[in-house]
Amino acid sequence: MHQPKRRLLLAAGASLSLSLLLPGASVSAQAAPATSLPNVVILATGGTIAGTGATSTTTVGYTAATVGVQSLIQAVPELAKVARVTGEQVFQIASENMSNEHWLTLAKRVNVLLAQPNVDGLVITHGTDTLEETAYFLDLVVKSKKPVVLVGAMRPSTALSADGPINLYNAVLLAASADAAGKGVLVVMNDQIQAAREVTKTNTSTLDAFRTPELGMLGYIQGSKAFFYRQSTRKHTLETEFDVSSLTALPMVEIVYGYANVGPVAVDAFVAAGAKGIIHAGVGDGSLAAKVLPALKAARQKGAIVVRASRVGQGILARNGEANDDELDFVAADTLNPQKARILLMLALTKTTSTRDIQRMFYTY
Ligand code: SIN
Repeated sequence: MHQPKRRLLLAAGASLSLSLLLPGASVSAQAAPATSLPNVVILATGGTIAGTGATSTTTVGYTAATVGVQSLIQAVPELAKVARVTGEQVFQIASENMSNEHWLTLAKRVNVLLAQPNVDGLVITHGTDTLEETAYFLDLVVKSKKPVVLVGAMRPSTALSADGPINLYNAVLLAASADAAGKGVLVVMNDQIQAAREVTKTNTSTLDAFRTPELGMLGYIQGSKAFFYRQSTRKHTLETEFDVSSLTALPMVEIVYGYANVGPVAVDAFVAAGAKGIIHAGVGDGSLAAKVLPALKAARQKGAIVVRASRVGQGILARNGEANDDELDFVAADTLNPQKARILLMLALTKTTSTRDIQRMFYTY
């Protein structure tokens, strides 16, 4: 296995204690005289931050999820200056393979760890492709005020100017910071702190891919300090009604994309396959094409919940705007993008099938 270049550059005085790198294995990296530092656990799940390429200039076409948590920690000896860090390899996957089952496993582990008095904060390393989804899922189901920070990298660990090490440092710093507590699940990339509900990946490859269009990021990391300027107003973590502790699966909710000439095939197929919910990622303000509307009505009549979202990526999806949601008994996604609307609907369906209640949840979380 190719190891990150900085692996052996240990800070003077730092002592590393490392163990085998297997799923579930844990590893620690702590400076010897660091008893007063916060305890931060890094849960590693794979992604480009743990990726390796053939050469130092390989920034596309590399292999994600090959470097273990031990090596990620070892590559950033500066972590030992800001926290007593331990690591756990929860999964080792590219994030396009993240599933509902992975989310349930991860959320349960997060809640167990955060309940421990000797854990002050958590960092989750993750592929960037679905990082925003995992972050929002956790934002809705974590039962703690302690900081939870998701982090990834746009360049693999072997690349020139890889962003993984500084992103990981910033994430640990943030998870160790009292200022990050109670703000919901956070994402840090490119020195910017973002809210799980609102952040989205906006670029396939550049370092500034993570953005919160219009609503804005929460703050910056600068000079080894977190600076916060705003907060999301939506409820999260301890304030939600969702509880994953006894869940072993989530209801099937699928996303149907809107585009010119779209027909009913995808909606019909998802419903026939057993979908309990459909997120319609419509054009504009969630408009419903004449050829799709009958399929969505039929889906609702069969009991599936239909949520109107937009493929646009910014703005409020207006209830009773482009469609009469009251009459159709549909739900409006508010400002959630389709992939996050899917997450909220899955969790909502663990509690209720009332569209009135589900609409309330979309205006609450
Ligand atoms: C992934 O999402 O696992 C691959 C892409 C990335 O992490 O940037």
